[in-house]
Amino acid sequence: MSTPHNEGKEGSIAGTVLMPGDPLRAKYIADTYLDQAVLFNSVRNMLGYTGYYKGIPVSVMGSGMGMPSIGIYSYELYKFYGVENIIRIGSAGAYCDALDIMDIALADSAWSESTFAMAQANVSGDIQYPTESLNEEIRHTAEKLAIPVRMCRVHSSDVFYHEECVGSYRDYYEKHGCACVEMESYALFHNAKILGKRAACLLTISDSFVTHRELSAKERQTSFDAMMKIALETAKV
Ligand code: ADE
Repeated sequence: MSTPHNEGKEGSIAGTVLMPGDPLRAKYIADTYLDQAVLFNSVRNMLGYTGYYKGIPVSVMGSGMGMPSIGIYSYELYKFYGVENIIRIGSAGAYCDALDIMDIALADSAWSESTFAMAQANVSGDIQYPTESLNEEIRHTAEKLAIPVRMCRVHSSDVFYHEECVGSYRDYYEKHGCACVEMESYALFHNAKILGKRAACLLTISDSFVTHRELSAKERQTSFDAMMKIALETAKV
């Protein structure tokens, strides 16, 4: 069993996959948080590992950046590897002062200018939703861990660098209700929906369009560890 982008053998990937954008983050997570982690994919260096968290099998695999990339990897995991749950664990830039750097956000919807859903399955509409039951489980876990999580709409942007003529980040906040920006959730949520699977997206706020602050290395690690704890404790249930 393999796909054009994943050389994982049948049965080598757990039912729940945590997906950071950066494949080296996937390696770090496997090395740091999982027991007996085994590499199942290195095609294009998009590293994927399966190990155990408190005795429960969990996988972690990079998604790459942007919707075409997470679109490929999540589709193959759901459709060909029997994966049921994907929790994206990423970072986002804040569009409003209600979100501070180091905050942890859980997407309640993803707005996008992307044509991904239309191109993939003739689905129109600029909003995609995560799976409610998975979001509930994540919220419940965060509550038990006493880690605050902010529910918000995210902007899944197709573009990282915008020219000024496109407008300001405030437009995405004021016109579309997006509290922060990342680049993958809309495609992930769409794939989960059309394939009857579950998806969610946890984000640490790494930078702010409002205050122009960015995380220090220490703050990045602290907020990342908190987000990982929520994701792993959810995956274990
Ligand atoms: N992820 C983290 N910060 C981001 C930003 N400013 N834009 C898009 N994706 C991001």
